[in-house]
Amino acid sequence: MDASVAPALVLKDVEAGYGEGPVLRDFNLTVAAGEVYALLGPNGAGKSTAARVACGLIPVRRGRATAGEGAPRRGRIGLAPQDCALFPALTPRENVAAVAALCGLPRSNRPAAVERALALTGCAPRADEPVHSLSGGWRRRANLSAALVGRPRLLIADEPTEGVDAAARVVLSSALRETVQAGAGCLLISHDEAFVSETADRIGVLAQGRLLAEGPPKALLRQAFGLARLLVVKLPRPASRLAASRFAQSGLAPSKDGLEWRLLCEDALGAAQRVSPEADAEGGEVAVRRPGLDDLVAHLSDASS
Ligand SMILES: Nc1ncnc2c1ncn2[C@@H]1O[C@H](COP(=O)(O)OP(=O)(O)OP(=O)(O)O)[C@@H](O)[C@H]1O
Ligand SMILES: [Mg+2]
Repeated sequence: MDASVAPALVLKDVEAGYGEGPVLRDFNLTVAAGEVYALLGPNGAGKSTAARVACGLIPVRRGRATAGEGAPRRGRIGLAPQDCALFPALTPRENVAAVAALCGLPRSNRPAAVERALALTGCAPRADEPVHSLSGGWRRRANLSAALVGRPRLLIADEPTEGVDAAARVVLSSALRETVQAGAGCLLISHDEAFVSETADRIGVLAQGRLLAEGPPKALLRQAFGLARLLVVKLPRPASRLAASRFAQSGLAPSKDGLEWRLLCEDALGAAQRVSPEADAEGGEVAVRRPGLDDLVAHLSDASS
C-alpha cells in the first residue's frame, strides 16, 4: 500500500438504501490502492448494498462516495456482481469483449485485454461456449473476467467464489492479488472464510448496516478471542437430558437446533476431556479448534443485536 496514492474507494458518513428506512447508516469505508478489503457479515447485513453504492448503482442520501479517482475512463470501476451480469446467449469471450468496448478500451488493445482477463481467472478453456450452457463455477470466472478487462482502479467482487471448486478458488485468489499488485484496490464481499483468509489484507465486519470492526484478519481474531479456543460437540440428534445437563455444567451452550454445543475458553482441551464420555455416549464428535472468521462474524453480530 502506498499512502501517497489516492484511495480506490472512500465512503464517508454514507446513508443509503431502497425504501424508507436506510440500509447503511453513518457508513465509513476506505479501500486503499494495492489492498484487498473484504466485507463480511450475515445475510442481509448490507454488503451488496455497500457495493452498489460504491459503483454508483444506488445513490447516497447523505455523505459522500468517491471511487476510482485518478482514472478518467469509463472503466475505472469493475463490478462482478453477486448475480452474474453476463449475456447468456454469448460466450465468455464475447461477453468480456463487449465489456471491453463499453469501458472505452481502444479497439486495437481489446483482443489482448480480453485474453488477459480470461487467463487471469482461468476461464480460457470454456471461453467459447455460450454462458447459458456453463456451470455456475465457470460463470463466476467469466463474471470476474468481465469486471477485470478494463483494468479498473477499483474492483468490486461480490461473492466471487460462490459455487466455485477448490482449484478455481486458488486461481481467483491469485487474480485478485495480481490485480491489487498492479495498483488497483479491491472490495471483496464473501462468506468464504478460507478464501478471505488467503486473499484479504483487511476485513470489515458489517451487521445491520453498521461496520462493527475492521483491521487485518489475524489482528481482529487476536483482539476478539485472545488465546481462547473453541470446543465444539456435534451430535446426531439433540442430547439426552443427562448429557445436556453435563454439557451445560461444563459451560457449553447449545445451538438453536440442539445439534451443536460450544464453549469458547482458554482450556478448551480440558473441557473437551470432561465432556467426552457423554459426547461419546450420544454418538457425537468432539473437536477443539482456533476460532476463525465465521466465528468472528457470529461473535460480533451476536454482541451487537
Ligand atoms: N433491490 C432491493 N430493494 C429493496 N430492498 C433491498 C434490495 N436489495 C437489498 N435490499 C434489502 O437491503 C438489506 C441489505 O441487503 P444486501 O443485499 O445489501 O445484503 P447482503 O449483506 O449483501 O446479504 P447476502 O449475504 O445475503 O448477500 C436487506 O434487508 C435487503 O432485504
Ligand atoms: Mg449480498
